[in-house]
Amino acid sequence: MKGIILAGGAGSRLYPLTLVASKQLQPVYDKPMVYYPLTTLIEGGIRELCLISTPQDLPRFQQLLGNGSRFGLSIEYREQARPEGIAQAFLIAESFIGRNPVTLILGDNIFYGGDTFQRAFSEFKTGATIFGYHVHDPERYGVVEFDGGGRAVSIEEKPKLPKSNYAVPGLYIYDNDVVPITKALKPSARGELEITAVNVEYLRRGSLRVQRLNRGFAWLDAGTSSSLHDASAYVQTIEKRAGIKIGCPEEAAFRQHFVSLDQLESIIAAMPQCEYRSYLEAEVVAEARRLK
Ligand code: DAU
Repeated sequence: MKGIILAGGAGSRLYPLTLVASKQLQPVYDKPMVYYPLTTLIEGGIRELCLISTPQDLPRFQQLLGNGSRFGLSIEYREQARPEGIAQAFLIAESFIGRNPVTLILGDNIFYGGDTFQRAFSEFKTGATIFGYHVHDPERYGVVEFDGGGRAVSIEEKPKLPKSNYAVPGLYIYDNDVVPITKALKPSARGELEITAVNVEYLRRGSLRVQRLNRGFAWLDAGTSSSLHDASAYVQTIEKRAGIKIGCPEEAAFRQHFVSLDQLESIIAAMPQCEYRSYLEAEVVAEARRLK
């Protein structure tokens, strides 16, 4: 399974913050937003990643994440010249995807709790798997409607009259057909290759699986000033209460055995003295040494 992080877009809803740094580089409590989706993919066991962003912002992501070796990953970078739709990611990353299945995650989506994605990645064979999450404001999202037997029957992008309260979060798993399906799409009225149109096509083919995320699962999107603030408050609350970090890719890479304990220690040694470093030293390295 290959992984794409889509981290472009105009970021206009966060203006003026986004005048100098893209949305996905803004802090969500104590780390850059992109660390959260990155960690989600690492926790899912995905090691080959492609990050897509704008020509202006891409160098910043490269500065932040490098070639990925710090996390035991390989990360390639691709430009999206203009924000012409989420599904355009599959065309931009076509050579990266090759003949593999692929997971796309949006750079402003934050997930926390449970191992639903890990299981979905390892069980995935063909077609598409997407998720449904109960929200109070479905009209802001792609909305999936289920029949009495729990099967998806329709998906609509930002409907004025949503047929359910189930929004489709920004994590999508596809087989290799996603590339030809996207190539056959026409831009929508707003001029974008819509991810919802890809999902509708898989639904039409009878190969779309929609898994409902349970109540214990948190899905936050950090695309507006208010939701960015809420996401920071949420992360702070959990981290302070539990003494753990959410969205810490170094820790996730270590727990996935992408990096060894020795490698983790040398990565930490290169960090300045800070709370992030202290956490890794005290909660991850010291604990691992104790258990050795
Ligand atoms: O957050 C989940 C929702 O994401 C889904 O429920 C919707 O079906 C899906 O269309 C999308 O809705 P948004 O209104 O959040 O899409 P937005 O245009 O804000 O783009 C989402 C992220 O993807 C954002 O961080 C910017 C990035 N993006 C978007 C487009 C259109 C790109 O990098 N390139 C693009 O061309």
